[in-house]
Amino acid sequence: EKNSPPQDTCLIFAHRGSKCNRPENTLAAFQEALHVNSDGIELDVHLSKDNQLVVIHDEKVNRTTSGRGRVCDMTLAQLKQLDAGSWFDKAFHKEKIPTLEEVLNLLLKENFAGYLNIEIKTDIINYPGIEKQLFTLMNTQTFPFKVIYSSFNINTLRNLHALGIKDEIAYLAGKTFQRVDLTVVERFITSLHLKKNYVFRHKKLLAPDNKPIRLWGIHSEKDMCLAFQHNISGIFTDFPEKALKIRKNQSN
Ligand code: G3P
Ligand code: MG
Repeated sequence: EKNSPPQDTCLIFAHRGSKCNRPENTLAAFQEALHVNSDGIELDVHLSKDNQLVVIHDEKVNRTTSGRGRVCDMTLAQLKQLDAGSWFDKAFHKEKIPTLEEVLNLLLKENFAGYLNIEIKTDIINYPGIEKQLFTLMNTQTFPFKVIYSSFNINTLRNLHALGIKDEIAYLAGKTFQRVDLTVVERFITSLHLKKNYVFRHKKLLAPDNKPIRLWGIHSEKDMCLAFQHNISGIFTDFPEKALKIRKNQSN
C-alpha cells in the first residue's frame, strides 16, 4: 500500500471523487482521487429503471448531465447516452454516468487499497431491492480496499445489516441540523458520518460505544484544521489534495 496513513490519522475521503477539479461521480473524478493518493473515495448510488446500480448524486440527471428526467425512469442504455462531463468543463465531454461495477473495476485495476464509501441514495426514492442488488454485486469478488456503506435512510441500513453485510455500515446524518438523531443509532451501526456543524457546534461529541466519527462538508482549510484537531476519524472533502497537504504539514 502506498503511503498508508498511521492508524489514528484522520482519513481523507474524496467526496464524489475529486469534486473540486473533476465532474463529480465520474471515472475522471475517481481517477484523480487515486492520482492524489486520497485515503478514501465517496460516491453515491441510485437504481436505473432496469435495476442497474449507477453512480450519480441527484435523483434527476438534470444538474450533472446533458439530459433531463429521473434516474429511475431511464434504463442504463438511456443513461449511457448522456454527457456527464460538459456541464463541468467541455474537456470532460466524454465522461458518462458510471455503473458501480465500472468504478469497482477501476479501483481494482489501480490496486486501490484504501476505503470506498458507497452512499445509498434512498433519501427521497426508496429503490426497493437496492440493498440486495448491492449485496449481490459486492459478493461476486473480494476487494483489496475496505468498503463502508452509508445512507441517510436508516431503513436502508437495517436492510443491509439484515442481509448479513460484514463491512462497515455508517449512519449518515445532518442534512439539516434537526435531522441528527443519535437515538436511532443501533448496535449494528459501526460508524457515524455527520455534518461538520454537529460536532463543531457541540465542541465535543460523545459517540455511542466510541464509534468512529467522520464528518462531511469539510472543504475549507479552517474546517480541515478543526477536524484534524478534534478526535475525528475521517473527513469527506471536495478538495482531497489540499486536505492531504494540510494534514501532512500539521504532522511535521
Ligand atoms: O457521504 C457524505 C456526503 O456525501 C453526504 O451528502 O449530499 O453529498 O451525498 P451528499
Ligand atoms: Mg454522498
